[in-house]
Order: sequence, then structure tokens, then C-alpha cells
Amino acid sequence: MCGIIGYTGFEQAAPIILDGLTKIEYRGYDSAGIAINANGKINLVKTVGRVQALYDRTHDGKDMPGVCGIGHTRWGTHGAISERNAHPHMSQNGKFILAHNGIVENYTRLKADLLAKGVVFKSDTDTEVVVQLLEANYTGDFKEAVIKTVAMLEGTFALMITCADYPGTLYAVKQNAPVILGLGEKENLVASDVTCLISRTKNVIYMEDGEMAEITTEGIKLFDFAGNPKEYEVKTVDWDIASSEKGGYEHFMIKEIFEQPQAVRSAISPRIKDGKINFGEKSLTAEDLKKFNRIIITACGSAYYAGLAGKFAIEKLCGIPVQTELASELRYNESGCIDEHTLVIAVSQSGETLDTLSAIKDCKACGATVMSIVNVVESSIARASDFVAYTYAGPEIAVATTKGYSTQVAVLYLFAVYTAAALGRINSGEYTKLVSEINAIPEKMETCIEMNGGIECMTPLFDKAEHVFFIGRNTDWAVAMEGALKLKEISYIHAEAYAAGEMKHGTISLIEEGTPVIAVCSNMRLQDKTASNIIEVKARGAEVTMVGPKGCESEKQANHCIYIPEMRDVFAEIVTVIPLQMLAYYVAKARGCDIDKPRNLAKSVTVE
Ligand code: F6R
Repeated sequence: MCGIIGYTGFEQAAPIILDGLTKIEYRGYDSAGIAINANGKINLVKTVGRVQALYDRTHDGKDMPGVCGIGHTRWGTHGAISERNAHPHMSQNGKFILAHNGIVENYTRLKADLLAKGVVFKSDTDTEVVVQLLEANYTGDFKEAVIKTVAMLEGTFALMITCADYPGTLYAVKQNAPVILGLGEKENLVASDVTCLISRTKNVIYMEDGEMAEITTEGIKLFDFAGNPKEYEVKTVDWDIASSEKGGYEHFMIKEIFEQPQAVRSAISPRIKDGKINFGEKSLTAEDLKKFNRIIITACGSAYYAGLAGKFAIEKLCGIPVQTELASELRYNESGCIDEHTLVIAVSQSGETLDTLSAIKDCKACGATVMSIVNVVESSIARASDFVAYTYAGPEIAVATTKGYSTQVAVLYLFAVYTAAALGRINSGEYTKLVSEINAIPEKMETCIEMNGGIECMTPLFDKAEHVFFIGRNTDWAVAMEGALKLKEISYIHAEAYAAGEMKHGTISLIEEGTPVIAVCSNMRLQDKTASNIIEVKARGAEVTMVGPKGCESEKQANHCIYIPEMRDVFAEIVTVIPLQMLAYYVAKARGCDIDKPRNLAKSVTVE
């Protein structure tokens, strides 16, 4: 979604801001802009489309002198995709420039008041209201104008503001949208995303809701919304720049697919010591776990499908009922069943997904305990949770998640075994076996990648298709759903996943001569059942590709085979998903799609 970056320092700001915008392109956007405050003269350039257009129009930023400025990538919510709606926005007298992430919910009323006072608006955005209010509330004191303006706003807002009367000064404001401050050497930065800071500094301050910051070259001052000074803690980011660059790969997505064994190793190995799973000091103890009679896993999109894989593992090993709930639905659940005996597990790569964040806040208010499985350290979901297990996947840049998903699944597997042991549901022999199977996952993933080195040659089976169906049972159904999502979101081919036994209850009528069906068959317990579903769709003309181990029953029935190593069903999803990700990638590539930035999608979905 929208991204912001601000810089004040001693170097020319424009190239640094443009570079920062390039690093947050992956979040998804439709227009972009940059504003430089050069000794009281504001220079503003905006464009529809890619950040590259800003480079082109400013000679890589060289045409924009000045050492202080702000930049923005917009994912439109209010108003069409156009240059005039792109950020930053300027106040009527040209003194204030502002970039905003989020939604000002009371903007209609505020706008009506300003219009009544004769303010002329240049855009259709909710954001422009804020910049016009800054001008209206300004009597010569920048900080005071920010305080007065913020007090009038309702909704979610990360704001970055500069004022022509204060060259070299930026104000940042945070309310329900991420803002991170970067402390450099004689320079300071602000951003919505840590990835655009790490090339300049690893020392950061994660702002809290209800805080505003004054950023100059001399330093950073933090205040509450009433303007009272606040202390801050400087943290060190351990992500390196290389991990947020393509490193010779054509796309981030394929790089991240291949990075998965290593990412999963990073998620697993710090948590297994001397054959025992340990989630660290601040984790749920056996005593904590005993008080729960149900678990709800909540998330959106792929993170939800990771949660589904977790459900199967937790239920099988721990015997606790686990419900998986889409966060956007859980928020409006009126069952009244969530209480202090409920453990809610929130799964999120970005840690900023608004639906997931709101769902856990609501569940906490009902007395539930919240544990989150999150990649981005100190993200909003992590901070709103009682317990956090980080996935340590490193920066994930491609919009379509791959290593984010597999590390979430890995942590859920670990949690399942940890909980089963804590509750005495497995004996020590079984525990040792399960831990060693988890330890072996990264190697199995490597084998799977090697086995599928030639999968690109299967793209002609799918790249002209209008519809592709995915079928699978139990754990394979969870993977089928993730495989279908991967294919549709990046290749724009309609893909649907069905529980294999369910197709004959309606969907089988969609099967025609040549319809491609991918049958996921890693679950050896259900091999014969899935094989009979393959026979059913083949009899109606489907061309079936099975994904399973060599020698399985489905291999005999399918038209084509994609092989994976044999796995115990309880931990199979994490390996089985790999060829589905690879296939989606190569099909999208064959169709010439914008793989890392699929249309209409954003990496971090911070609106409802
Ligand atoms: C699909 C994808 C999305 C995300 C979803 C949740 O490839 O990436 O479906 O999984 O938007 O995002 P996070 O995990 O950041 O909460």
C-alpha cells in the first residue's frame, strides 16, 4: 500500500528519497511524488505510474536541489489514480507539504468546514484536508499547527510534513499506520517501511500510536499528540541490504522461492536446542497453554492458508479444536464464544495487515490471549500481541508471498509439537521423532527445488488456460488453496481450489475437455481417495497434473506428474507448495505479467 519516506541531512535529498521510493515499490502503488524543501522553496513533482517516471522527470533527482524532502507512493483509496491525487499534497498558500498513509475518516466534515471558509481544493483525496488544516491552524509555529491539526483527525494516519518556513525540519505523526525513524550520521530519516532505511542506517526508532516526531539534522524529538516530550528507544535492525536486492535473479519472487530452505532454517534452528523446542523466555508456558480450550488462527490471504496448515498440525498432534478465521470476518463475528480460554494466533508477514490487527484487538478485548507469528520485527501486530514468534524470513519484496508463507508454516509446525509436548499429548519418543522431522524440512525443501529444476517446461499446459482447478484432501487441500492463489494473483488466470471430494457436489460441471486440474497428492493416508477424484475429473475431460511423491497411487491416474520428496503428511505442506509456487511463477512469466508487482495488489494491506 502507500509508502512514505523523508530525509533531512547534508546530502542532496532527492536521489536518496527516489532510492527509498524504489525500495518500497514492492508494497504496491499507482502513483508517486517527491517534494523538496530547499531553503523555503518547495519543489514538487508527481506522476501516475512508476517511480522511474520521477527519475526521468528530475534527471535522477539532480534537478531538485536541497537537503530535506519527502516522497510518497500512493495506492489510491479516495479519488481516481491521477497526478492531482498523487501525494505529496500542498496547502493553498504553498507553505505546507504533506504525505499520508491511511484514511482520514472524518474528512468529509472537515472538508465542508474548509470549503465554507473559501479553501480551494486541488484533489479529491481525504489527505488534502490535512494539509489545508495545517495552513489554517498555522500562526508561525510549525509544531503547534501539527498539534492542532492532529487533534481534529479521526482514522488511520501516518503523516510526514514539511513547512517552507522551516527548511530542514520534518514532522512525522503516527496513528494506526507504521512510521519508523532512522538515526544516521548528521542525517535523519523517516519511513513507513524499514527496507528503505537500511541502506543509510540500521539505528531506528519504532514510533507508537499517538506520537509525533520532529526530525532535523541535529536529532529527533518525540512528543505525544499534546506536544509533551517523550523518551524513545533506539533499536538496531539486523536485515542487510543484500537481502532486499535481486542478487542476479530476474524477479524477487523466484529469488525468494529459492531462498525458502534457508529462510525456514532461520525460523527453525534458533528454536531447537539439544533436541528440544524452545520459543524463548517470553513465550507461552505449559501452564499458559493448559488454560485454553480452543485456538483460533486468524489471518488474511496466504497467511490464512498457512494458518490452515497449522490447524491440521495442531489438531492432529494436540487434540485441541482449532478454528481458522479470515481476519476480515473474525472482526465482525458475533458468536460471543471468544473468552479468556481462547488462544488467538495471528499470522502475518508484514505485521501491518489492518484486518488482522483489528481482529486481534477485538479478541483481546473479549479476554483472549494473542500470540502472533510475524516477520517484520516491531510491526503493529507484533506490538499488539501478548506473545510474538518472529519468522526470521528476512525482507520479502515480491508482492506474492513465498518465503513469508513457508516460514509461517514452519513456526506453526514448531508450535504444534511444542504444545503437544507441553500438554502431554505425545510421548518422548514421538516428540524426538517430530523434532528431527522438522529439522529435516529445509533439506527436503532443497531436494524439492532440485527435483523441479525443469518445471518451466510444463508452462504450456497452463499458460493459455482460462481456468485451472486445484484439488486435494486435508493437508493437500490447504496447499491447493495456496497454489491456486499464487497462480491467479500473478498470472491472472482464474484458479480455484476445492477439497477433492467436494467437486462432485457442484463444481465438476465446470470441467470440460482439456480443463487443467492440478491434484495435490502428498498425503499418503489419502492417496487412494484423491486418486479416485482424479479418475472422476479425467472422465469428464480434465487434463490432470498430479503433485506427489514418485510411485504414489495418483501417479498412475494422472496425465502429467510433478514430483516431490515423500513426507509425513503432518509436515507436508511446506514442501509440497514449492512446485506450485514455481509453476505459478513460470506461467506468469510466459504470459509476460508483472510478477513482482501484480496489478491492483499491495504488499502490506493497511486498509479495511
Ligand atoms: C498472497 C499474499 C497475501 C498476503 C495477505 C496477508 O501472495 O501475499 O495474500 O498473505 O495480504 O498479508 P500479511 O501476511 O502481511 O498479513
